[in-house]
Amino acid sequence: MEKTILFPQIAGFVHGGDYNPDQWLDRPDILEEDVSLMKKAGVNCVTLGVFSWAALEPVEGEFHFEWLEEIVENLYQNGIYTVLSTPSGARPAWLDAAYPEAMRMSARGVRDHHGGRHNHCMSSPKYREMVEIIDRKLAQRLGSHPGVILYHISNEFGGECYCPHCAKRFREYLAERYDHDIEKLNHAWWTSFWSHHYNSFDQVEPPFENGERSVMGLNLDWKRFTTWSTNDFMEHEIRVLHSVTPDVPVTANFMRLFGGLDYRKMAPSIDMISWDNYPTYHNDWGTLEDTMVETAFQHAVMRSLKRGKPFMMMESAPGLVNWHRVNKLKRPGIHRLSCLQAIACGSDTVQYFQWRKGRGSYEQFHGAVVDHLGTDDTRIFREVAEVGDLLQKIAPAAGTLVQTRAALLFDWENRWAIWDVKALGEQTKRYEDTCRNIWETFFGLGVDMDVVGSDENLDQYDLVVAPMLYLLQPGVAGNLKKFVERGGQLVATYFTGYVDENLLCYLGGFPGDGLTDLFGVISEEIDSLYPTDRNAVVFPDGKQWEVKDFAEILRVKDAKVLGVYGSDFYEGTPAVTCKEYGKGKAYYVAARCEGKHMVPLFEQMMADAQIPVRRLPQGVECHVRSGEEGTYAFYLNAREEETKVPGVQGLDLVTGSRVEGELTLPGYGVAVVSV
Ligand code: GAL
Repeated sequence: MEKTILFPQIAGFVHGGDYNPDQWLDRPDILEEDVSLMKKAGVNCVTLGVFSWAALEPVEGEFHFEWLEEIVENLYQNGIYTVLSTPSGARPAWLDAAYPEAMRMSARGVRDHHGGRHNHCMSSPKYREMVEIIDRKLAQRLGSHPGVILYHISNEFGGECYCPHCAKRFREYLAERYDHDIEKLNHAWWTSFWSHHYNSFDQVEPPFENGERSVMGLNLDWKRFTTWSTNDFMEHEIRVLHSVTPDVPVTANFMRLFGGLDYRKMAPSIDMISWDNYPTYHNDWGTLEDTMVETAFQHAVMRSLKRGKPFMMMESAPGLVNWHRVNKLKRPGIHRLSCLQAIACGSDTVQYFQWRKGRGSYEQFHGAVVDHLGTDDTRIFREVAEVGDLLQKIAPAAGTLVQTRAALLFDWENRWAIWDVKALGEQTKRYEDTCRNIWETFFGLGVDMDVVGSDENLDQYDLVVAPMLYLLQPGVAGNLKKFVERGGQLVATYFTGYVDENLLCYLGGFPGDGLTDLFGVISEEIDSLYPTDRNAVVFPDGKQWEVKDFAEILRVKDAKVLGVYGSDFYEGTPAVTCKEYGKGKAYYVAARCEGKHMVPLFEQMMADAQIPVRRLPQGVECHVRSGEEGTYAFYLNAREEETKVPGVQGLDLVTGSRVEGELTLPGYGVAVVSV
């Protein structure tokens, strides 16, 4: 097994975060102190320049890189590396004043005013030109510095623009997609409905709020275009940087299951995946364990965007954030637990927003390693320094990977299609929650599933879950058949295979594209239940699963009926089926059931896939990372009380002592057992 260390210079885990010295250029004493505090905190890398445009180019054409060069060099001399960011995430006032086209237009076609961040037009030629100039200079001045290990492109890409440049590029994008044939677009968008036929691409507009929003195909293509356009902008930045320093890798920080962009389409353009992780610890709607498990799911999504490489947790909050509904402090011990969770799930970095709290403006009260108090003698600083120590102790695990034989299929386009479809129940579609609930249920059985696209290679998996795969991308049906044929265990649910990639319904029975053969069923009708309605799936042994929200009525062709509905006019008709197909099995669950009810089915699938069930004590999670140099089992206790985990053998790198059979985890404790 290959060891895939992200940064050979660091040869271990990265510990650091966003550093904004440009807010302190008039305080050399503070800048000096920063370096010594970083060393005390065990920081080995900082991210510089994320929003530095105004400090680098205070007026058009006048550049000041000296301060940044000095800081990068000084950090390097002190053993601290730099992730160098392009400044395109926020524009200086002079730029918007001179080139208003850099500012976005809203969905009502109104130009934004200057301000905020992350709000530039991705299509504006002038903005691209200005970005190109500053990025090139940045790469020329600093890209070859031995302290620079990575480029960070812009910041948290997102959002849409409805300006004339974007509208024009949207039309060009559509012309390309539909072979310059407007009738192909008309067919794909089913525009004979409501007389929405177009005579030429020139007539097509983005889905303005006060315009065309009733054509599902247009809405989905707009979302596809927004991803394409954002990625095109990002690639423009990467091209400029790489024309100067081709060997410096690049990343762009993602935001969990962000709904605005299809991250899977963007992942190939960057060298490593990074994301910003801000869970709502200690909230009033769930337990800490719930928050932890939800976060583990988000990490799995990121990990799976580039299988075969660790990812980066580019940002996280030391202490608290300032933008949750209630900004609660992380309780003592939770910082360590959450940082170790990222590592356990496959991150090779623990990075924070932010190193030092600024004195003013929007984020002055956002958590930071160094508070306004300005000393290392704070709870947060101590907890951060403790993480720094811990990362040193477990450094041999860097570069190893979470390897799994199970996957959950999750598609952004499917998600958008489900959001937009006029069907089911507005409040109960809950595609993401449904996926997460199933992922979490398997996690409770000891399976750390990947979360991959439906058209991805499934060769490494023996068990696949495909919830609500309403939209079938081309090739997916074949992919699933191949998977089951060679012995895979597959489960799909209600609302599978209704439409193709153009959102046109399959004729001849759902699930379409030949999947009725794989599952041996046809879904004839789908019933949506009111939130308080319940039905049940009843099994021959008398066991029942509660049904809520959706229930499909099936015709069974050649599958075995495992369970039937318990009530309503479809009482006694098939609800859960299984068909043996090739060497594997394809299950169909026609109704929405909570993961906890479906455990017997999941256990059966695991048994057939020869994946052992492992149930851990309540509140404990385990992730395993392995590579050529070893296998490391990470145990995390999300409970305040001490707990004991049976069946653990090996050397705990955290305590330095051997575990022989039973691991004792203190409250919020962590262990990294080399096995
Ligand atoms: C992130 C952003 C950072 C900072 C942080 C605060 O989304 O990238 O710049 O604003 O949130 O939590």
